[in-house]
Amino acid sequence: MKPRSGYLFVILFAAALALAACGGDAGPAGPAGPAGPAGPAGAVGAAGADGSDAALDVADLSCTDCHNETSGILSVQARFAESHHATGDSWVRGSIGSCAGCHGSEGPKARITAGLGPNDESIQGVATSSPINCRTCHDVHMTYTGADWALTGDSAAVSFDRSDGTYDKGTANLCAECHQIRHPRPEATDGMIEFTTTRFGPHHGVESNMAVGEGGMGVEGSAAGHYTLIEGGCVSCHMGENANHGFEAQLSSCEGCHADIESFDLNGTQTEIQALVDQIKPLLIASGIMNEENRSIPGTYTEEVVNAMWNYMYVIEDRSLGVHNPAFTRALLNYSLEALGG
Ligand code: HEC
Ligand code: HEC
Ligand code: HEC
Ligand code: HEC
Ligand code: HEC
Ligand code: HEC
Repeated sequence: MKPRSGYLFVILFAAALALAACGGDAGPAGPAGPAGPAGPAGAVGAAGADGSDAALDVADLSCTDCHNETSGILSVQARFAESHHATGDSWVRGSIGSCAGCHGSEGPKARITAGLGPNDESIQGVATSSPINCRTCHDVHMTYTGADWALTGDSAAVSFDRSDGTYDKGTANLCAECHQIRHPRPEATDGMIEFTTTRFGPHHGVESNMAVGEGGMGVEGSAAGHYTLIEGGCVSCHMGENANHGFEAQLSSCEGCHADIESFDLNGTQTEIQALVDQIKPLLIASGIMNEENRSIPGTYTEEVVNAMWNYMYVIEDRSLGVHNPAFTRALLNYSLEALGG
């Protein structure tokens, strides 16, 4: 592996300091200060890009591919700063081993680059976790050329950790690296399932499994038309044609197929799904498995009731109210409704 080209900066910076210090007549040297405390251990760095054996040659650096007279980076940064990726506070979980595969920047960067799944046992929390930033998703400052816009993981297809399928939609594969079911589905013994967690469910961010119709309990699904037909997957609908780095869904991305669409609630689908969710919630609470805050109550329940809660949480955590996969979303909620006698 090549030495980090960051050394170049250290050298330039040190040279600048030395020059700055040459201003006036030097006074007598003071006594040496006490040794400072040892600094904290640094974060595990991301695996570097394959390079040549020799050190980076200055002639190969093309800073101006990116840092030039255009305001390209500035404008992306401004949009990004408003996104939940930048404003959310869950990145602090990047210091915990079982969360570092998806939260923060250093953990996901290193494990996606290494081709590992999000729950791989080798993943460790990083001492200094940072919020999601340009470097989480792009290879910024690895070769110091425009090639550094390359996406982390080179858009390799994603095999889900917790269900059978695969998500494979070009640059959106990077999204599926993190936005997938995190918790394993429990298995029944003699028709009963016991759990001790107060957070039963698939975890937040299940959108890629939803798209391909995987990961329900007691329900088989199939891939959404929105998965098979939309070439760029998440990126097409959430980033649009202008690489929107605010990541919110774009109504303009629907118009190619739904010409007169006026809101995401096409044909009242989101309204219908919300009504089903509202109908199921009191039934789950009445069954004793869940409280008002959608938190599970530890205990032993029939497989049907546990499946009903899983499928309900799955739809809530998907957060598109049916848009990602209308048919599968309906099937999940219909299972819950029937299982709870609604
Ligand atoms: C792939 C495009 C790209 C190339 C090529 C590139 N940079 Fe950057 N640079 C960025 C981005 C994006 C940021 C700001 C965001 C960040 O740091 O995550 C940045 C930030 C910086 C900063 C601010 C401090 C920092 O590290 O965040 C400096 C200084 C800098 N670049 C210098 C350089 C120099 C010098 C080169 C060439 C040797 C270079 N860059 C090449 C994209 C690039
Ligand atoms: C490194 C893991 C990771 C990757 C890669 C990633 N996300 Fe996220 N995403 C998150 C996390 C974590 C949050 C929640 C941030 C928080 O609450 O602190 C989030 C939040 C979001 C939100 C905002 C949800 C809201 O509350 O409004 C959207 C939309 C989103 N991601 C879409 C995408 C898309 C589209 C991609 C691919 C281009 C992507 N994400 C790639 C981890 C990731
Ligand atoms: C498989 C990847 C993955 C793992 C592992 C993971 N998360 Fe998340 N988490 C996500 C994604 C993706 C989101 C954002 C979902 C969204 O906004 O729709 C998220 C969101 C969150 C949120 C923010 C919820 C909100 O609405 O603001 C918290 C808190 C959180 N996770 C805690 C944890 C903790 C604690 C761990 C470890 C014990 C963990 N996560 C492990 C993927 C993961
Ligand atoms: C959550 C992941 C994610 C983060 C964070 C992110 N990007 Fe991106 N970026 C993408 C994806 C995915 C694409 C490709 C979009 C497409 O396929 O159209 C992209 C495309 C780009 C492009 C166009 C690249 C090209 O090849 O022409 C630029 C420029 C860019 N991003 C800059 C940035 C900057 C600057 C930041 C930080 C402020 C940033 N990105 C943060 C995911 C991300
Ligand atoms: C058919 C276009 C489409 C595709 C493809 C798509 N989404 Fe969405 N997504 C939406 C719409 C529409 C919403 C609902 C937005 C609303 O109601 O405000 C949404 C909601 C979300 C949310 C909830 C946060 C929010 O903005 O309200 C997240 C997170 C999310 N999508 C992530 C993803 C990820 C990750 C993928 C890829 C696995 C993906 N989406 C694929 C259209 C799409
Ligand atoms: C590539 C074409 C395409 C794009 C782009 C597209 N859709 Fe669709 N959409 C379809 C098809 C085909 C169906 C019906 C088949 C299915 O449900 O899988 C559908 C069904 C729907 C449904 C269910 C309607 C019902 O009556 O059951 C909703 C809601 C929806 N789309 C919303 C959206 C939104 C919102 C966007 C943009 C964020 C979008 N679609 C983008 C092709 C598309």
